[in-house]
Amino acid sequence: MCGAIIRRKTASDVDAITAIADLLPEWFTQSARREIPVDASVQDGFVAVLEDRTVGFILFLVWEAVAHISWLGVHPEHQRRGIGKRLVEHVEGLLRPSGVEALEVKTLSDTVEYEPYERTRAFYQAAGFEPCKRVRHDNPECPESLHLRKDL
Ligand SMILES: CC(C)(COP(=O)(O)OP(=O)(O)OC[C@H]1O[C@@H](n2cnc3c(N)ncnc32)[C@H](O)[C@@H]1OP(=O)(O)O)[C@@H](O)C(=O)NCCC(=O)NCCS
Repeated sequence: MCGAIIRRKTASDVDAITAIADLLPEWFTQSARREIPVDASVQDGFVAVLEDRTVGFILFLVWEAVAHISWLGVHPEHQRRGIGKRLVEHVEGLLRPSGVEALEVKTLSDTVEYEPYERTRAFYQAAGFEPCKRVRHDNPECPESLHLRKDL
């Protein structure tokens, strides 16, 4: 069990969030890494802090009673210690009492062979998300996305 503290994201976390995203190029393309600082400055979220160092983040948007996870990342040296799970749980705990019905996330589809996202899908499956939609794109970096949903 990891002793990271999970707290609400503030404006001063944007640089640390961007720095973690930059360490995850297998998941976040250059264009995604340009979007993350912009989204981190306006969207709600949580960060995980371990010994004064930010080691994980989750950003989300709520739209029509559904929360959409826009970005989620854990520092590569701190993965698989329960931080991602706790970040998702904090979003659930925040939103459930306010009537949000579900959490959704869009990820690379399982019809696209790319190992790093197999791990991502394993994470979401373990967290209770289920596939709800597949969408084809005219984008070689993401020819098909898989939408996952967890009812709250
Ligand atoms: C996906 C990610 C956020 C998960 O965070 P994490 O802190 O490493 O994951 P956790 O330790 O909370 O994992 C919880 C459970 O998910 C599953 N899981 C997590 N990583 C896994 C992996 N690499 N392979 C298989 N299952 C995995 C396991 O069941 C795990 O429980 P266990 O360790 O007791 O077996 C993190 O690995 C990450 O930043 N990945 C790169 C970026 C990314 O994929 N972001 C999401 C884009 S949509």
